[in-house]
This record gives sequence, structure tokens and C-alpha cells, in this order.
Amino acid sequence: MAAKYTVIANWKMYLSSTEASKFFHANLEGVTRLAKGESKVVLCPSFVELAEITKLSQGICIGAQDCAEADNGAYTGQISAYSLSELGCKFCIVGHSERRAYNGETSEIVAQKALRALECNMSPIICVGEDFEAYKQGQTFEILKSQLKPIFELFELESPTFPIFFAYEPVWSIGTNEIAPNDYLDKVFEWLRSLLSSKLANHKINLVYGGSVNSKNIKNLIKISQIEGFLLGRASLDFPEFEKIVECCNNE
Ligand code: PGA
Repeated sequence: MAAKYTVIANWKMYLSSTEASKFFHANLEGVTRLAKGESKVVLCPSFVELAEITKLSQGICIGAQDCAEADNGAYTGQISAYSLSELGCKFCIVGHSERRAYNGETSEIVAQKALRALECNMSPIICVGEDFEAYKQGQTFEILKSQLKPIFELFELESPTFPIFFAYEPVWSIGTNEIAPNDYLDKVFEWLRSLLSSKLANHKINLVYGGSVNSKNIKNLIKISQIEGFLLGRASLDFPEFEKIVECCNNE
């Protein structure tokens, strides 16, 4: 049976390689326990830790934080979706707002990356979201539409393979402890569900929320009916906190 919730841990660049390995080993028992629960747990360490953590993954799914836009060739410093898939990754985050902001990734590039991930048998986790200015001005839907347009153009004719994850992450909620009210999130997720199911009708779509999720606000967020999972940053590296979040999803 498909997991009701998917909890994705984005470790970003918070830990060095040694620290990430220590963190993983220190929590191996807990990770094994989580792998047996009802929710699907996906750990996304940085590239250099992927090989080690995939080998020891104890049944937990592993994802990458990004992949190259091209499939292979003269792209110094980039990592292909193919290599990530070879390492055992089943998921790949693309278009995180930090990459859009600091690495100049356009929505066209993000769409290409998502396609590369799918072609290499990984589920892309496509991040979208508005900044605070747009939120205040009531422009959320416009922003989301423009971020999604290249995906629709590219994916419309693709035959379905792996589920496509969309992570709605208001940029102003990431790393801030600010969280949008439930009625607002409810509206956005209902809108996303209806848009995505009409534009990508033959694909399996999963909707997740990201931005300052913790063990307290998860109890509220989980009431939003269209949400099928969570993308966590900071809370994913506080293992007791992470466990509480996953448990809350398991018990829902
Ligand atoms: P945060 O990050 O949980 O630390 O707010 C979320 C994200 O970047 O996806």
C-alpha cells in the first residue's frame, strides 16, 4: 500500500561530511525504526555523503538535493541525474528556492532538471513558492503559475513513470519560523491539486508542504486535506524532533 505521507529531510549544507556520517550512525536505530513505519521517509544528504548513506540506508529512501540540467557532457562540477540514480537515489529535489536565489535557476532550468530525474527513474520533488512581497500583494497564484508553466510544457506529452512531487514552500516561511495560516494553505493546496490534475492528468502527483515545519505546527498542518507530505530543513537534523514529526504523520 502506498504511504499516506512522505517526509523528506533536506540536510542542505548544514553538516560536514564527517558530521553527517556521525549523525547518521548515531541515529541508525531510529532510522531503522522509521523505515518500518507507515510514512515514507526520504533523506537528502549532500552529494558527497550519498554513497555512504545509501549503502547503510536501512530501507530508508535516499534523495539528492539537486541534479544537472544536461544528461551528460562537459559540465564541470555538475552531477548528472544518471549518477545519482546509479548511487541508489530514488528522489531528487529540484528548484529549491535557495537554488533559484543563489544559483540563478530559472523555472525552465528547473523543468529540465525534473525531466532528467524522471528519465533516470527518480521522482523529482519540484519546489515552488512565492516570496513575502508577492504573498502580501496577493500574487501567489500568478507566481506559482509562472513557475509551473515550463513543467506543463515539458511534461504534458511525457508518459507517466514515477510519481512527481510538488513541494509548495512559501519562500518567506523557509528558515524563519513564520508559517501561513491554515485557511491560506488550504486554498493554495486545493488550487494546486486542481491545476496539476488537469494539466498533468496522466501523471501521479504528490503534494507536500515545506517551510518551518516542526513537531508543534505539524499537528495543525496535517489537517490540510490535500497535503501528502512534508519537506523539512532544520527539523530534519534534530533527530528527536524529526522522529516526532514522522510519528505524527504515522498516527494520522
Ligand atoms: P526549514 O527549511 O524547515 O528549515 O524552514 C525548509 C526547506 O528549505 O525546505
